[in-house]
Amino acid sequence: MVLQISHQVVPAFAARIACVLVAWLFMAAAIAQQINAGPYVPSPVSVVADMLKIAGIGPRDFVIDLGSGDGRIVLTAAKVYGASGFGVEIQDNLVKLSNEAAKAEGLADRVKFLKQDLFKTDISQATVLTMYLLPNTVNMLSEKLKTELRPGTRIISHDYSLADWIPEETKHFDLEDKIKISGVTTTLIFLYVVPAKVAGQWTSKVAPEVAKQPVTFELSQQMQKIGGMARVGGREVPIEDPKLVGEKISFRLPVERGRPLNFTGQVKGASIEGTVEAGGVRSPWTAALSK
Ligand SMILES: C[S@@+](CC[C@H](N)C(=O)[O-])C[C@H]1O[C@@H](n2cnc3c(N)ncnc32)[C@H](O)[C@@H]1O
Repeated sequence: MVLQISHQVVPAFAARIACVLVAWLFMAAAIAQQINAGPYVPSPVSVVADMLKIAGIGPRDFVIDLGSGDGRIVLTAAKVYGASGFGVEIQDNLVKLSNEAAKAEGLADRVKFLKQDLFKTDISQATVLTMYLLPNTVNMLSEKLKTELRPGTRIISHDYSLADWIPEETKHFDLEDKIKISGVTTTLIFLYVVPAKVAGQWTSKVAPEVAKQPVTFELSQQMQKIGGMARVGGREVPIEDPKLVGEKISFRLPVERGRPLNFTGQVKGASIEGTVEAGGVRSPWTAALSK
């Protein structure tokens, strides 16, 4: 009798647990579908101006604002700098308000606002990406920014930094307007530039008057931090003062005392085009990624 009861109870109990688990999974999936990345708190007008200035925005830029609120960042970028772009926002009324403002300002042919989850937005078209979101959500976006944005894209974040990125510029100042927003006057604007991928072995072509022997170099990379060694002829030399900002790369090879080779170039996928300077002589330089 006892055995009979436990046979019936165990499957019933297991079924119950399964139901709870399924319900929990559905709930988790629903939450995951749309994470609220932050409440609606508009960036003060002066901060918007600073963000766009730090981005060095121009008419050829395409701006995407993640969580666009009343649309002020994209609208200002279009109105003042002639840029185009879009904003995504989860609140219906704000999307409507922004599109109405775009129409009223005569900007609707260049900017639009979509009711869309920022985590599911295709951001690959951006040349400038802006955000004013909660600190943890800024960091949840880190991987998306790394994989979807093209090298050279500028990222501007109001107040919160990206933990594993190194800013190219940080503006830190006090603003009275921020007291009603965050309770303090502290205001931060971070500028990041998506680095090109340069890790690997490169083979260079340089003019014979600059280096008679072939130049190859191997780069290691952690975001925009790069380093490595070069081989000039049979000799190994360290890469000095390496810099990578977006697609712009530069470094120095101390091949001869007082006559180093100074390389600067633009990374284009698996190739680099630029110039090399030695002893005041400047000539073209190209490199190709071999591994
Ligand atoms: C702090 S406000 C910033 C508004 C505007 N970018 C600015 O700087 O003035 C953040 C905005 O993100 C929106 N938001 C929050 N989660 C979102 C999500 N998952 N997808 C799209 N928008 C979201 C909020 O509704 C809010 O309007």
